[in-house]
Order: sequence, then structure tokens, then C-alpha cells
Amino acid sequence: MKNIVLIGFMGVGKGSVAREIVKQSDMIALDTDDIIESMENRRIKKIFAEEGEEYFRALERKVALWLQKEVKGTLISTGGGFFKVPNLSKIGTVVFLSAPFEVIYRRILEHPDAEKKLRKRPLFQDVERAQKLYEERAVSYKKVADIIIDVQDKTISDIAKEILKKV
Ligand code: S3P
Repeated sequence: MKNIVLIGFMGVGKGSVAREIVKQSDMIALDTDDIIESMENRRIKKIFAEEGEEYFRALERKVALWLQKEVKGTLISTGGGFFKVPNLSKIGTVVFLSAPFEVIYRRILEHPDAEKKLRKRPLFQDVERAQKLYEERAVSYKKVADIIIDVQDKTISDIAKEILKKV
């Protein structure tokens, strides 16, 4: 059975959707950021600060190769830049969670832990830069996706159902 790989911009809800899919199915979920944090025994923010972004991207590529080789039938949520790993399509069915930048930003700000959510993301420290990154990536996310799910105005439960139906 193929893996399901959730991709999309920071804050679009990949983690929440993954947790809901796990509830609605017998799948187990893995998260690439969690794997990297546990391998390194430090937070993403600290890895970026101490080693730089390229070091983090190399870890993503390493995790991607391991996922391709060793992991089957699993729901995999990813960091917002993971979609750039060269072997993405070999890991599983790629599902892009899509929403306008304004919706994503509003969703983060409305969260009770908004400050923490922003603080932990080194590439979301400045809204204008994050928006620029979103615009740079928008086309690429679509290009690598097997399935595109518009998540705007949908509940997490409906998004999970839609993904399970389509894969
Ligand atoms: C990143 C997104 C983050 C994390 C890292 C880089 C990105 O994950 O992997 O901060 O390049 O978009 P989330 O999408 O879970 O915030």
C-alpha cells in the first residue's frame, strides 16, 4: 500500500489533517519535522539558528530517502519546504493542501497559541517575506502534487474524508 504524503505551506494544517486521518482510518502518521527534531534532539528553530537552512534541507533529503526505502502504507505530514526533495513522488501519493496566504495567516493568528506557532517557524518571522515565499512556491506545490485539496472553508474532518476518498 502506498504512503500518503501531505505537502503545503506552513500553517495550512498538515499536522491537524494528519491527526484527523489517523482517527478516521487505521493508518499511522509520521511527520518529517518530528523525525528531524528527534534525530537531532533539538528544535527546528535551533537547527536553523545553529547550522543554517542548507543543513536542515540535507536532513530532509536524508529522511526522504529513508521514507522511500523503508516506509509503506503510512500517512506522512511534511515541513513546508519538504516538497523540494528530489524523490518526493517515489515516497507515495502527494496531496497538496491549498489555501490563500491570507487564510493561512489568519488561521495562525486566530489560534490560541499563535505566538508560539509563529516563533517556532524560522521562515515565518516576517509576514512580507513569508508571503513572498508563499508566492514563489505556489506553482511548484501544484506541479508536484498528485491530488490538490482546497482546504479553505472546510472542516478538518471533511478534508480528511476527502483525502481518504480520493487516494
Ligand atoms: C519550513 C516549514 C516548517 C519547517 C521549517 C521550514 C518551510 O514546517 O519544516 O521551519 O520551509 O516552509 P511547517 O510547514 O510544519 O511549518
